[in-house]
Amino acid sequence: ALISLRQLLDHAAEHSYGVPAFNVNNLEQMRAIMEAADETDSPVIVQASAGARKYAGAPFLRHLILAAVEEFPHIPVVMHQDHGTSPAVCQRSIQLGFSSVMMDGSLGTDGKTPTTYEYNVDVTRRTVEMSHACGVSVEGELGCLGSLETGMAGEEDGIGAEGALDHSQLLTDPEEAADFVKKTHVDALAIAIGTSHGAYKFTRPPTGDILAIGRIKEIHARIPNTHLVMHGSSSVPQEWLKIINEYGGDMGETYGVPVEEIVEGIKHGVRKVNIDTDLRMASTGATRKFLHDHPKEFDPRKFLIASTKAMKDICKARYEAFGTAGKA
Ligand code: G3H
Ligand code: 13P
Ligand code: ZN
Repeated sequence: ALISLRQLLDHAAEHSYGVPAFNVNNLEQMRAIMEAADETDSPVIVQASAGARKYAGAPFLRHLILAAVEEFPHIPVVMHQDHGTSPAVCQRSIQLGFSSVMMDGSLGTDGKTPTTYEYNVDVTRRTVEMSHACGVSVEGELGCLGSLETGMAGEEDGIGAEGALDHSQLLTDPEEAADFVKKTHVDALAIAIGTSHGAYKFTRPPTGDILAIGRIKEIHARIPNTHLVMHGSSSVPQEWLKIINEYGGDMGETYGVPVEEIVEGIKHGVRKVNIDTDLRMASTGATRKFLHDHPKEFDPRKFLIASTKAMKDICKARYEAFGTAGKA
């Protein structure tokens, strides 16, 4: 059944677990997420980005998610819109049937320019007012995603600040977070702790100075009743990086957010964990390997099955690690 983000995260807080929120663009990702959830008895958050809407088209995405609900009626599913850049974008998603939206007011309507605190409060508060009237949940964001090593947001396309960010923008301030939640009434709050979107998060395995899990603890201590969200939370699996490069790819050395660090975050109020890159890497690695190993094959379903299986294995591992398994 389709449920709201608030319903799911309240349950997650009560039972001290986290929920991975996987980005979805196509049938194979949707199947991977749902089959993994079915096999582990996990509730699901699927989210659609602006890039996904551009790729698949909003009606296809909507029906893909509704098809998942129809095929797996026993699994609770949150249909979430990722990184909305204005109240109007969120309104459109509500009209399409999303049960949850993110109003990312940390960046302007271009998804690139950092905004003022007052702007963020204003657009988020307005979005909450409108969404709650429709029974839809809202995730807000305070602070800008970006690397504490370089001050840059990472990912070239998609959502990310353009130009260098200063240290104070890269780490969410606990006092400001308390004020933000009080003024906006968001259901969940995305925070900045040094992660960034895409594969190139850290140039070395991260330590506390570049991945500020300690900051999560400070924020949670200040606003214990607010559900926290970690973006840019792919772990960038070294095994898939190696396979991609062994079979014709050319990705540089890079590190993601270790699963153990996310689990530590979940102990301190993190309830939603956004993951996109890990499934992209598993899909690409499995496809490259399959086509290399089976040069005569030309039926796309064959390599798409390999891709789906690789993504499903990642989904299952995250459901198990975050304590989502068994909670459906
Ligand atoms: O917000 C970032 C997600 O990884 C979605 O990326 O806009 O390329 O679909 P995308
Ligand atoms: P990753 O690029 O780390 O998978 O993050 C995805 C994300 O935060 C989507 O909002
Ligand atoms: Zn994000």
